[in-house]
Amino acid sequence: MLFRNRFLLLLALAALLAFVSLSLQFFHLIPVSTAKNGVSSKSRKRIMPDPVTEPPVTDPVYEALLYCNIPSVAERSMEGHAPHHFKLVSVHVFIRHGDRYPLYVIPKTKRPEIDCTLVANRKPYHPKLEAFVSHMSKGSGASFEIPLNSLPLYPNHPLCEMGELTQTGVVQHLQNGQLLRDIYLKKHKLLPNDWSADQLYLETTGKSRTLQSGLALLYGFLPDFDWKKIYFRHQPSALFCSGSCYCPVRNQYLEKEQRRQYLLRLKNSQLEKTYGEMAKIVDVPTKQLRAANPIDSMLCHLCHNVSFPCTRNGCVDMEHFKVIKTHQIEDERERREKKLYLGYSLLGAHPILNQTIGRMQRATEGRKEELFALYSAHDVTLSPVLSALGLSEARFPRFAARLIFELWQDREKPSEHSVRILYNGVDVTFHTSFCQDHHKRSAKPMCPLENLVRFVKRDMFVALGGSSTNYYDACHREGF
Ligand SMILES: *[C@@H]1O[C@H](CO)[C@@H](O)[C@H](O)[C@H]1NC(C)=O
Ligand SMILES: *[C@@H]1O[C@H](CO)[C@@H](O)[C@H](O)[C@H]1NC(C)=O
Repeated sequence: MLFRNRFLLLLALAALLAFVSLSLQFFHLIPVSTAKNGVSSKSRKRIMPDPVTEPPVTDPVYEALLYCNIPSVAERSMEGHAPHHFKLVSVHVFIRHGDRYPLYVIPKTKRPEIDCTLVANRKPYHPKLEAFVSHMSKGSGASFEIPLNSLPLYPNHPLCEMGELTQTGVVQHLQNGQLLRDIYLKKHKLLPNDWSADQLYLETTGKSRTLQSGLALLYGFLPDFDWKKIYFRHQPSALFCSGSCYCPVRNQYLEKEQRRQYLLRLKNSQLEKTYGEMAKIVDVPTKQLRAANPIDSMLCHLCHNVSFPCTRNGCVDMEHFKVIKTHQIEDERERREKKLYLGYSLLGAHPILNQTIGRMQRATEGRKEELFALYSAHDVTLSPVLSALGLSEARFPRFAARLIFELWQDREKPSEHSVRILYNGVDVTFHTSFCQDHHKRSAKPMCPLENLVRFVKRDMFVALGGSSTNYYDACHREGF
């Protein structure tokens, strides 16, 4: 993952440190039910910072709980909202996999004991959980492109393996699927009753957590999950760039972006001190501790209410967590300002956006295939797409994040098609760079499809600032 090294610094650290004692934070703030009903259920809707209601100083624990996305009662969402004379034509869903076990261990500590089997008497729970397990266990190899057919179809280890989807992750996507089903199938009849395999387009990376997340979402979504009608394609690239992955200029942006991250980290003496302390606790060189990306593991402790690890030298604690998380937030802020990541994103997201508008254009011609597209992906997939669309204020993709493109037809003017863009249930259409201005001129609550097409075909290259107007030229620009 590209951002595994994003750590950074915290200006208001002193203030935060003075805040609440860490045991208080850990045991009283974090209880899942509080996170559900108190801190986060409203705020999780807020993907754009709201100067009126957001705390003036970003609270790292609050941000981390949003990231956990602990399943809660029925979520309200804006998907499918349209005037009644609009007809839903197609839907394109990009998801991040659900809650997973860490990808790294903190050296010389016991890894968190989390059970990745799926059982009814453990929270979080979803009414379809048992049916999901029993249906998955009858899975069919014919439903997957090689090498996906060798992956397990649901998580099943009593001690999670590294990166394995957890029960929380499965429940998050069963919920996403159910929510989309109520809106797109029950309300808007996106698929006919006798829908067939070619009306779905399904694609996933080759990790078990993305495949399983996609299956859980579909299981919640489809009225009858018939293995004969499921076919998942394999996407080798986390950018979903298919045959267009070679792009030297994109790689140059990425190198500069990584250099920026590195320099920001060096400037943060509080962060260096924290890594030093943690390294002493676990008794390894600081470098080794840092390379083990401890925040990934610490987030898992936090999301699962498991206390941070201890050794005979002491405990990793909430203050360490806050310093590292605050640095991450600061890093994201500087990333937006410096725009190197934007350059990377415009080029990185072009192929998948181009594919999506191609699919939309075919649907506008009346083709009935691929009406529902699902891309089961990673933070490093969603993040560049968000950034490329101009949604730079959007929060970093949480577990089970969803980004949705809806295509609509105006029944009163059948030649006109419009799009809506939703991130975690919030309508962000008019925050995108290609539809900000439209908002001011039009009363329609959507964006003309032409705006998106023009953006993907040309304006996203113009936004790079060179003279290129197509992907190939932009990727091979000399002297960048
Ligand atoms: C979190 O863990 C603490 C201590 O182990 C426990 O008292 C608390 O009930 C737990 N909270 C939840 C929501 O499980
Ligand atoms: C964009 O999509 C069109 C088909 O819709 C395809 O012919 C073209 O090669 C794609 N370009 C890139 C750079 O992916």
